[in-house]
Amino acid sequence: MPRDMQLAHKETSRILDLVKRPAAEISREDRERVARDTVDNFANHINKGFLQYRKSVTESGGFAVTEWVGQGSILRDALDREYLDMLGGFGLYSYGIRHPRIVEAVKAQLDRSPQYSQEMLDPLRAQLAKVLALMTPGDIQYGFFANSGTEAVEGALKLAKLYTGKSGFVSMLKGFHGKTLGSLSVMGKSVFRQPLLPLLDGVRFVPFGDADAVEQVLAAAEAVGDGIAAVIAEPIQGEAGAVVPPDDFWPRLREICDRRKVLLIADEVQTGFGRTGAVFGLDHWNVAPDIICFGKALGGGVVPLSSFMATPEIWKVLEPNPFMHTTTTGGNPLACASALAAIEVLFDEDLPGQAKTKGEYMLGKLGELAGRYPGIFQEIRGKGLLIGMEFVDNEIGYKVAAGLFARNVLTAGTLTNAQCVRIEPALNTPREILDEVLNRLEDVLRHIKP
Ligand SMILES: Cc1ncc(COP(=O)(O)O)c(C=O)c1O
Repeated sequence: MPRDMQLAHKETSRILDLVKRPAAEISREDRERVARDTVDNFANHINKGFLQYRKSVTESGGFAVTEWVGQGSILRDALDREYLDMLGGFGLYSYGIRHPRIVEAVKAQLDRSPQYSQEMLDPLRAQLAKVLALMTPGDIQYGFFANSGTEAVEGALKLAKLYTGKSGFVSMLKGFHGKTLGSLSVMGKSVFRQPLLPLLDGVRFVPFGDADAVEQVLAAAEAVGDGIAAVIAEPIQGEAGAVVPPDDFWPRLREICDRRKVLLIADEVQTGFGRTGAVFGLDHWNVAPDIICFGKALGGGVVPLSSFMATPEIWKVLEPNPFMHTTTTGGNPLACASALAAIEVLFDEDLPGQAKTKGEYMLGKLGELAGRYPGIFQEIRGKGLLIGMEFVDNEIGYKVAAGLFARNVLTAGTLTNAQCVRIEPALNTPREILDEVLNRLEDVLRHIKP
């Protein structure tokens, strides 16, 4: 694109004018232009590829659905079409979109200081670390803050290597930990990993839920003298489709890691903060990891925030040179205010309890639907409000996801990847919205011929 400063200036002001203008004063013509420009801008400046995957483009039947206003579990596009959000940003919106108390705290902090100087000590970051230390299982006490889930995992891997002096990892097939190079090394999916090989050396994979396989791989590594720093896993696999391991998996992992002197890293980026019906995923099995990773909901769905935390014993390795791992913007005051307000909401609204009862309700109702409409679902599984609907094949899965989208319900599921569609709404989604989604789902199922 030819360089043009004047046009860049004009284009900046044009969109900012829309952002600042009250919704009622934005004309239909302007709104249509937003929808059209967004598609063009995606095609020309983000990635054309996305346009073939987003139902907001492929299934919109006219103007693309562009995200414009959100509140709670409801999203409206630029043309004021309303959608029920059952995707929750893949676990980002556990508190709903723009929870008023989280927004209030962030606005108040914005009026003081949005980022930090890098020299003065910042009170919110330190207090958030203390609060998280009080909430996390076992002896977890120190934390480092970043912005994305993958950064939390990167930090956890570095910390495990530094502390143990070993370089190998054991990870889980179909596990998902993010897409930067370190996290990608422990990702259990070939499609994202293989084109970038070689990645970190010495990573082994075992089936998720198979503690015997972990034991065997660790024993084999020991026998040939390969050092393994840590075993890393999600408490419940999210991206793989809400896969819940057998009840003895995590307690056995803890015992195996202790016995073999290998660290245990829990990636709670998706399962943390109430999502699965307990504060943390590992709380279902009363297991304390050595290192824990947070992201997504940690920032309250208002400002991105992630973290990795560990015990004082492990953290000691970072003390001689605290600059071994740093980032300029991680744990900034806005993000910490957002996280602290979110944690207060988590307690005050008993979000883990809501996720538990609403999750059980949804699993029950989805099971009834599967019984009434045979030949469509393979399995319905999950814990809390991390639910996976596995369909008999990808085609049927896409028909359901597209049918829901046509009835203004947002879920994941693309043309090529819809065999398992997650339901991951805000934990405080009102029961009436859940019932409405179930009604619309039944309407979709009625029209599908298996
Ligand atoms: C368990 C888990 N870890 C890490 C990540 C990566 O987080 P981010 O996309 O914020 O980098 C994800 C994202 O889906 C995740 O589900």
